[in-house]
Parts: sequence; C-alpha cells; structure tokens
Amino acid sequence: MSAILNQTPARPTIKPLHPLYVAEITGIDLTVPVAREDFRAIWAAFNEYEVLVFRDQPFTDETQIAFSRNFGALETMEAHPANNFKPGHIAVMTNLDALGNLLPLDDPGMLHRLRNEAWHTDSSFKPVAALCSLLSGRIVPPVGGNTDFASARAAYAAFPEARKASLEGKTVIHRVAAPKAIDDPAYNEEQKKRLTVTHPLVRTNPVNGRKNWYVGSHAQEIIGMPPEAGMALLDELTEFCTQPQFVYSHAWRQHDLVIWDNRCALHRATTFDKTKYRRKMHRTTVAGTTPDSALASMP
Ligand SMILES: [Fe+2]
Repeated sequence: MSAILNQTPARPTIKPLHPLYVAEITGIDLTVPVAREDFRAIWAAFNEYEVLVFRDQPFTDETQIAFSRNFGALETMEAHPANNFKPGHIAVMTNLDALGNLLPLDDPGMLHRLRNEAWHTDSSFKPVAALCSLLSGRIVPPVGGNTDFASARAAYAAFPEARKASLEGKTVIHRVAAPKAIDDPAYNEEQKKRLTVTHPLVRTNPVNGRKNWYVGSHAQEIIGMPPEAGMALLDELTEFCTQPQFVYSHAWRQHDLVIWDNRCALHRATTFDKTKYRRKMHRTTVAGTTPDSALASMP
C-alpha cells in the first residue's frame, strides 16, 4: 500500500514570501516538460501572487525557452548595445564578456544595463507590452545584485480612494528612451518612433479583476496634461508603488528562476561590486495580448 502511495507524483506547493504578494513554488522540475495540470497551478499562482520564485532549476537556454512558452509567444528583444545589436529570445544581463572576463564599467553594454536599476516594467514601450519575464540566475554574486520588486496592485488598493476616480481614465505615453532622455543614443530614430506608445494608467487583471497603476521609468507623459505635470504625477505614483511595504527584494541563488507579471509588478536591478564579482542572468519575456480580456483563460 505504501509503495503505491509513494508513487503518487508530487504536486507543486505554494508558500507566500511576502504579506501582500510573491510566492515560492517547490516540488516541480521546470527544466523538463511540465504537466498541464501543474502549469494550471502555476498560472493561477502567477495571477494571484504577481512574482513567483522557483529554486534549483538548472536551465539551459533551450529548456528555459521551452518552459517559458507555456505562458505564450516569446518576445524578440530590441537591438541595443547590451546585445551587440543581435537580439534573440534570450536577453543576457551580465558584467562578463563572451570569454567570461569582467567588462569595464564604461563598456557600452554595461552603461546600457544601468537603466535596469530604475523601477520599470518590461516592454511597456511596445504596443503589446510584456505579459511576464522569466529570469534565470546562471552566475550570481555572493553579495548584492538583488532584484527588487514592487506591487503596483497592492499600492493601487492602498491609494487614497478620493483621487482614484480622477485618474482612472487617463492614458500614458511610454517611450523606450531612458527617462528624461528623449535623445537616448542607445536607440535609433526608427526604434524611438516605433517604441513610443500609449497605455492606460490603470490596468485590470482579467482573471481576478484587481487593478493596478501601470507606471515605471518608461511612462513619461500623460495625455491631456502639460508634460511636466504629467511626469510629476507619474513620478508620484511610481514612488507610491515602491514604498517599502510594497517591495520584495530577491536575493539570488544560482539556478533560481523568478517569474514576474509585467502587467502589475514593477522591478529594478540593484548594484553589486562589478569590478570583483561575476553575474550572468538569462531572461525570456513572454508577449502579452491586447486587450487584457484575451488572457482571462490560461494560454
Ligand atoms: Fe527589466
């Protein structure tokens, strides 16, 4: 009898890591094909918790891409200095060159990646913004290099009700260019034109109906407001969302996989001693759909 019980496959177990959002999921190997029933549990947790942490997932690029496709079609990155203008489905966040040597701090790719240290949400400058990002820790420094997350959903729930009504219908201009740098040299004119888009200031999760501010460093103007006033309001909302009670800081272990919902969670890279330690993270990004209601059911 016990032998039969022992053959029952383990099911994923979900453990919250923060009072408001973020969960760790154990009991599943994501580097091999995931059963549909198990992905259903992951999809439900993704909509509920915004940020999911999985430990001990030694991905290759191929297995990371295969798992990521459970969430939908993958984005191809934009060409920029940090990918040597040769983008694919894997974005590499690293301070190493192709031979594994530390890059100088003034390397164009290193300078480009500094923009990840501002609070943002991935690909909000695209007409169809990202659904989620999946970041795999391949080489992690012994100290520093955390990824910080902020729940713009919990922040929306805590925001003064009296002000929500006047902000609800507003539309925001998002740009690929770095904040307050319209002449950002990292992108060419075609990219800057194509990657200037509008999105609603308030987004609603199609599964549970919970709302959030959709802000961050690419959100740079509000339609119908003077540019300075719109920027000031967007800065205020991003600051509100990133207060300590809404933040979870992920300290990486090698082979961690962290998945976050770009529709409602903000994130930023944090620094580490880039002249001493090595860090290499591989990211896949799943394209969203528009309108949101198209994702009410599991992909
Ligand atoms: Fe990012």
